[in-house]
Amino acid sequence: MAADTKKILILPGDGIGPEVMDQVRRVMDWLSANRGLSFDVSGGLVGGASYDAHGTPLTDETLADAMASDAVLLGAVGGPKWDGLPFDKKPERGLLGLRKEMGLFANLRPAVVFDALADASTLKTEVVKGLDIMIVRELTGGIYFGEPKAIEDLPGGGRKGYNTLVYSDYEVDRIARVAFDLAMKRNKKICSVDKANVLVSMVLWREEVEKVAKDYKEVELSHMYVDNAAMQLIRDPKQFDVVVTGNMFGDILSDEAAQLTGSLGMLPSASLGAPDETGKRPAMYEPVHGSAPDIAGRDIANPLATILSFSMMLRYSFNMDAEADLIDTAVTNVLNGGLRTADIMQDGKARVSTSVMGEAITRELDKAI
Ligand code: IPM
Ligand code: MG
Repeated sequence: MAADTKKILILPGDGIGPEVMDQVRRVMDWLSANRGLSFDVSGGLVGGASYDAHGTPLTDETLADAMASDAVLLGAVGGPKWDGLPFDKKPERGLLGLRKEMGLFANLRPAVVFDALADASTLKTEVVKGLDIMIVRELTGGIYFGEPKAIEDLPGGGRKGYNTLVYSDYEVDRIARVAFDLAMKRNKKICSVDKANVLVSMVLWREEVEKVAKDYKEVELSHMYVDNAAMQLIRDPKQFDVVVTGNMFGDILSDEAAQLTGSLGMLPSASLGAPDETGKRPAMYEPVHGSAPDIAGRDIANPLATILSFSMMLRYSFNMDAEADLIDTAVTNVLNGGLRTADIMQDGKARVSTSVMGEAITRELDKAI
């Protein structure tokens, strides 16, 4: 294998995962043929698909393959078929297991409104047009993973359930640094979202973010309570540039930000770990949308979020900004040209299938040679 060959593990997952992933393969093939890039691509199962084959949503083998790859591209997991499974066998556990075991503590969720889709939002066009926010969500800590957690029987009868919202200083420090580094490449503005008026773990969060800010004098830092942030995001989203926040707040706010764009089918994400001694950084890329089991297998899903996730892989894992720009531009141009999958269909535009959209992207890329 040539030294510059990139080892990519593709985990299509469930529902529409496999069909949108097929379209990314077209883009990969195009880059290999036209830009001399070399990808060593292998596949694996995760989520419900893995449960069906192996009785677990994430096998040790898939995890090992993920660790050994330069980057993972994941489709989506879950579906009603697996709803009745015990908690630890649910497809989502496969995703959470990958995040935790690979140490993917930094989740980057850009919410970008493409001009061609600005009136697809439920918000007024002028409120969202030109929107470009980067939500940086802490992904391996906080209440998602905090101990203790349990459901217990109480001695006197009845039960209690609890989780723990815990953050250590180093966890806040490292996610804040990711966010500040991103801010330096953008508009040098960060809003840290917490609930420091109520939760002591969030008091620590705020103090640690303040400490990191001292190393980034050029970046303007503000703090906002999460309830206010949820309101401000729909009142005036363009006041935000980089938003950094904990695991659960980030889960919620990133769905809200997705709806600002009006097109969940367009949003990519990156989940990054810490670089090792050689500079190699564990990474997984996935669309923000789910597995959409209701439309799976019908060739109508939107492949663009997954294609844009691959573009993020090129940018953040492989430093191939030029190629990432090519893909992002191709997506913009295809939308400007009027092609739409069903989820983003608008009056007067041409409705196309998953595969036709994928093909249109490669045709558009052809124009760049
Ligand atoms: C997300 C999802 C996951 C999460 C679920 C599927 C476990 O909502 O990636 O935002 O809560 O993190
Ligand atoms: Mg979520």
